[in-house]
Amino acid sequence: MAYNHNVLLGLVAAAFTATAALAGSHTSGQAEKAVKARKAHMGLNAFNLGILGAMAKGEVEFNADVAQGAANDLAALAMMSQASYWPEGSSSDDMEGTRALPVAWTDMAGIIEKAQALGAATTAMAAAAGTLEGVQAAIGPVGAACGACHKVYRKPDS
Ligand code: HEC
Repeated sequence: MAYNHNVLLGLVAAAFTATAALAGSHTSGQAEKAVKARKAHMGLNAFNLGILGAMAKGEVEFNADVAQGAANDLAALAMMSQASYWPEGSSSDDMEGTRALPVAWTDMAGIIEKAQALGAATTAMAAAAGTLEGVQAAIGPVGAACGACHKVYRKPDS
């Protein structure tokens, strides 16, 4: 699967700008639904990364079909627009139940860079997932791309 990172960048930029138009027009519960949706997206990220991680560590026997499926899903998730998941007014300063730091709404260039890094790493994983060695080589950069974004834009566990 070939992913165009310019498309990805456009989508991420759209996510954090277009939603500004929604600010102030939240019907009650809408922000909570958006938080739920982005957590669900992140949960799918973690689930698929977990499958690949277990194989990479030898905890689970390598299976090329399963690995390819998980890798494709990770790459597809990285390409999703997420435009409605991050409305203004849904940061950890604005509401309960979210760890998304306010800086995610002010540092657009930074978050685009992090999303782009995940897109590149998951594209590489999708290309490499046919062999155990490929998964082992590609998993570090994927995990690092997740962690790099969390470090800046997600509140640490309390
Ligand atoms: C561009 C930034 C970014 C990238 C890249 C990213 N995340 Fe996240 N992630 C976040 C933010 C922000 C939150 C906090 C969301 C919230 O609490 O509303 C989060 C939350 C999470 C959560 C907690 C979800 C919950 O139910 O509270 C998990 C698990 C997670 N991410 C896994 C991953 C994995 C695995 C990857 C890589 C495959 C990844 N993330 C990539 C920004 C990112």
